Amino acid sequence: MAHVPTITLNQGPAIPQLGYGVFKVDPAEADRAVTMAFEAGYRSIDTAMIYRNEKGVGDAIARSGLDRSELFITTKLWNDDQGYDSTLRAFDASLGRLGLDYVDLYLIHWPKPSQDRYLDTWRAFEKLKADGRVRAIGVSNFTIPHLERLMKECATVPAVNQVELHPSLAQEELHAFHIRHGIVTEAWSPLAQGELDAAPIKSIADKHGRTPAQVVLRWHMQRGIVAIPKSVTPSRIRENIALFDFALDEEDLAAMKTLDTGRRIGPDPETF
Ligand SMILES: NC(=O)c1ccc[n+]([C@@H]2O[C@H](COP(=O)([O-])OP(=O)(O)OC[C@H]3O[C@@H](n4cnc5c(N)ncnc54)[C@H](OP(=O)(O)O)[C@@H]3O)[C@@H](O)[C@H]2O)c1
Repeated sequence: MAHVPTITLNQGPAIPQLGYGVFKVDPAEADRAVTMAFEAGYRSIDTAMIYRNEKGVGDAIARSGLDRSELFITTKLWNDDQGYDSTLRAFDASLGRLGLDYVDLYLIHWPKPSQDRYLDTWRAFEKLKADGRVRAIGVSNFTIPHLERLMKECATVPAVNQVELHPSLAQEELHAFHIRHGIVTEAWSPLAQGELDAAPIKSIADKHGRTPAQVVLRWHMQRGIVAIPKSVTPSRIRENIALFDFALDEEDLAAMKTLDTGRRIGPDPETF
């Protein structure tokens, strides 16, 4: 089974560099999908309240027979639940659906600047961390100004910022900012939701005898980024973790760089 490297977070625990994401996995399918992921060797699962599949993820965890300490479970607070008291209530509900005593990583799903509640939300996250109910707290979709404000006004530096990141949105500037502040960059839509047909990706894949998805995921690994690809297809679930026996060379990395046009697939965090 693949040995997935880990990255130690600024708040202590180590996150597997490759995890399994369950956005758009039907709630009724989540149990089966996560069970397949465990069988393939994934130990990190990324869900969220808004995916409506925390219960299925929890059922798979309960049936897996895996020791809780081997797993790294992430969930996220939805925008409507931002605010101090509402965050604490939403967290209790997520934990109940997952059937767990703690989560490894809890993320503010979006900054939602129009609501301006992420500082109060973060103070509730700090309480959950102090109470031992989450091992690490982080954010998602935060820009540099959002992070700067959070770090100026609050005591805890986020462990992780989970953002849209794939070859056409390489997020060089944000990733460099994260490195300076000890924040781990986690890529959502790491496979650009399956858009893998750019010519350089195809030719690098042919050169190494690998698939386009493996090339893109390997690119994330070599940049020191955590990636959480989603698939409900058994062969792809296995393909996406078979990454640790080959490497991209300098020429490959230079070719990947030409794909970075700054094009987003998902919403802009400033306005969403
Ligand atoms: N924080 C946020 O705001 C946010 C936003 C979006 C996503 N996320 C997280 O990031 C995770 C991943 O992002 P994502 O689901 O948007 O996109 P993704 O992982 O980039 O791509 C998933 C798509 O690619 C296909 N695919 C997977 N492996 C493949 C392979 N080896 N070859 C060809 N196609 C392949 C999947 O199809 P099949 O499933 O049909 O195989 C699916 O259509 C989510 O599940 C979620 O956990 C977070």
